[in-house]
Amino acid sequence: MVLRIIITLETKSKQPGAAFRTTVLANPFVSFMTAASYRRIHCMQADGQFCTHEIRLYNAAHSGTFPIDMEAIAMTETASYEERARAIFADRADLYTTSAAHTDEQVLGRLIEIANPQPNWRVLDIGTGTGHTALALAPHVREVVGLDLTEEMLIEARKLAGERRITNVTFQVADVHHLPNELEDSFDLVTCRRAAHHFSDIHRALSEMVRTLRSGGMLLIDDRSVPEDDWIDDTMHRLDCLHDESHVRQYRASCWIELLENAALTVEIVEPYTKQRPLSSLTARVSADHVAEIHTILDHLSAQQKEQLGVENIDGERRSTHWYLMISARKA
Ligand SMILES: C[S@@+](CC[C@H](N)C(=O)[O-])C[C@H]1O[C@@H](n2cnc3c(N)ncnc32)[C@H](O)[C@@H]1O
Repeated sequence: MVLRIIITLETKSKQPGAAFRTTVLANPFVSFMTAASYRRIHCMQADGQFCTHEIRLYNAAHSGTFPIDMEAIAMTETASYEERARAIFADRADLYTTSAAHTDEQVLGRLIEIANPQPNWRVLDIGTGTGHTALALAPHVREVVGLDLTEEMLIEARKLAGERRITNVTFQVADVHHLPNELEDSFDLVTCRRAAHHFSDIHRALSEMVRTLRSGGMLLIDDRSVPEDDWIDDTMHRLDCLHDESHVRQYRASCWIELLENAALTVEIVEPYTKQRPLSSLTARVSADHVAEIHTILDHLSAQQKEQLGVENIDGERRSTHWYLMISARKA
């Protein structure tokens, strides 16, 4: 049986009437990933072949006829940051296992120096992803628990732990905004690396992380950040949102200090740092239209703005500056 339906959507400029038509089969097999302004849907057609459709939610030009699941539509339109993060990181999990930015030994080494881990410690790693931070800490402590929203990232983490024969780490699914009650007052160190910029409610996330710390324990954050400069802040925010639709906000050092102090912590070490990264670190596994938009932003920078963002061409490869911050704070 084939049903024919019409969905009417608003365009981005809120003009009503843009429509796309779709055909719903009785038993469509649909998996999908969500994003802010498009959906990529993998459909198995009646002949058993897979087809992939990129649909711009707000663009009538991308109308088409293909099998599609109406429940999927309902969900994509209301996707929370957490749902988006789950879909995006499930799709990109393998990239993070080998990502130069996440395996950077200099950064992991500095994180361990600041943490000064002790053999009897229990450590909690939030937004553990494919486990690079948890696995770097594990040889120094009694136990590490790695939590993450996305099971596919944890599958990679468990694989890495197995390859390195690390046995004192466990990985479980959890949302930082709702940490299990049994973890309260349990950890000497809580780490959170390159994940906080995805948290939809940073205040709640911090209070949950602090709740799991023992008195005297340390919270150690390493995250994307920006300098105290409005233009760089706005531009990096635009680029990061195009790179990853679950990106919420990267915070300046001054903002992190305020956030941690408001979470009743005493800030100890604040270390902003930068890395020159290839453009591919922003464009890998990103939709073609978002890649085009990233190029357009960079192409239209003035010479002075390029200098501010550290845009350079080395051997035909475009690179630019990425800002980060490591910050530690202690619970009373
Ligand atoms: C870039 S990866 C983390 C990298 C990892 N910490 C490391 O050191 O290599 C970001 C991770 O944050 C996770 N994440 C996003 N929102 C989250 C939330 N609300 N709670 C827990 N994890 C979350 C994503 O699933 C993803 O695996």
